[in-house]
Amino acid sequence: PKAQRIRLGETMTLGSGERTKEVNYSSPDRGTRVQVFGRVHRERKQAQVLFVTLCDGGGYLQCVLTGQLTKTFDALTLTRESSIMLKGEMWEVPLNAHASDNRELHVDYFEVIGKAPGGDDAITYKVQAKGDPQTLLDQRHLVLRGETAAAVMFVQDAVEHAFNVKYHELGYVKVSPPALVQTQVEGGSTLFDVPYYAEKAYLTQSSQLYLETAIPFAGNVYCIEKSFRAEKSLTRRHLSEYTHIEAELDFITFDDLLNHLEDMICSVLSITLSIPRIAAKIQDLNKDFQMPERPFTPMRYSEAIDWLREHGIGKEEGEPYTFGDNIAEAAERKLTDIIDRPIFLTHFPHEIKSFYMPKEKADPRVTESMDCLMPSVGEIMGGSMRIDNYEELMDAYKRHEMPPEPYYWYTDQRRYGTSPYGGYGFGLERFLAWLCKQHSVRDTCLYPRYMGRCRP
Ligand code: 4AD
Repeated sequence: PKAQRIRLGETMTLGSGERTKEVNYSSPDRGTRVQVFGRVHRERKQAQVLFVTLCDGGGYLQCVLTGQLTKTFDALTLTRESSIMLKGEMWEVPLNAHASDNRELHVDYFEVIGKAPGGDDAITYKVQAKGDPQTLLDQRHLVLRGETAAAVMFVQDAVEHAFNVKYHELGYVKVSPPALVQTQVEGGSTLFDVPYYAEKAYLTQSSQLYLETAIPFAGNVYCIEKSFRAEKSLTRRHLSEYTHIEAELDFITFDDLLNHLEDMICSVLSITLSIPRIAAKIQDLNKDFQMPERPFTPMRYSEAIDWLREHGIGKEEGEPYTFGDNIAEAAERKLTDIIDRPIFLTHFPHEIKSFYMPKEKADPRVTESMDCLMPSVGEIMGGSMRIDNYEELMDAYKRHEMPPEPYYWYTDQRRYGTSPYGGYGFGLERFLAWLCKQHSVRDTCLYPRYMGRCRP
């Protein structure tokens, strides 16, 4: 029969019987005859058999070459990452043998399409780190062909998809704000300048302000865009370019925002884990992963300061924390690791937060703001209510020494039908570092950008 062209991962009738030296066409339970294209992920030669693990993105498939096929020049010189076409029958894996999806291809014909180099240039040598992460980053294009790096990318795709699914279930509209801007959102110190014809522009730090302007025509809105930060510190959770999942919710209270966020995080995880292939990859990457328990632990900033003092966790210089201090990354991580469950850290002092955050009525020292902290990663999301009063917003510009003129389009939201509303932003790479148990956000994006690295 004519071979049916398939992608790995598709299901089909499998043949069964003993593996023989020659492919056994007389078996009564012959499998589906297929044609597959992909790259040699691994190859293992035995006396009479050549095992090839094929990768085509849809999965991995063990291909078994026997008899005369193993003696051909192409089989004898086959290298990893060569692209290849194979035809044969799909069989169950015999007892005592293992292969993904419990099946293997009994090959009767193959062609090498693009031969990959062997010897010193073999991919296995290229991606040998020798303890040097920079070498691996230089070879990121090849590292991505490895199972762990690839698995993280598959989970990234699934998580982004899950956010889209959940937002659409909730009736949110997706918009696409610009990356080139002439205003700041999160302070002037992390702006990237870009020459823009005869003017100066920046790469956006967050789409938030533009997203807010979509509320009046769209209602609740979201976007998934790149954000850029000229971070001058090298940490395992800071990138210069990252994927930012942001949303704005109209006519809400601060409590509504917190409830929505908890639901959002849990729904995104459920949708992601409902895809068997992705759930298996998460299990491989993070075998201890468990759905977070609800409700998340609420903790006001002032309580966190007390907690740090009680636990003897001080600032870098060793001094104890006091109200008004920015909680450093190391201290925040200790807090999340000891509490070991998701935390909503809320009500930060307005001096250490962005201009657009409103003060809490009960305690005007603090803002209606929150971060979501996850064990071993720390902050994965930041959000707040937004100042909805014109005069208060003008005061905020003044306090933050921001000239209001370039923000006229933002200020107009307070003039043309203001409303109580709020929003937030997730760093997708940090979300993935937590979900996939990766040490650094550099391992949870395709090509990390951070101070000192903008290639390949
Ligand atoms: O807390 P941030 O700075 O908040 C904002 O940008 C708001 N404008 C978002 C909003 O309300 N729409 O950043 C939000 C999240 C952080 O919690 C973190 O997950 C991620 O963005 N993030 C980074 N991720 C990687 N590298 C960086 N340099 C990041 N800076 C922030």
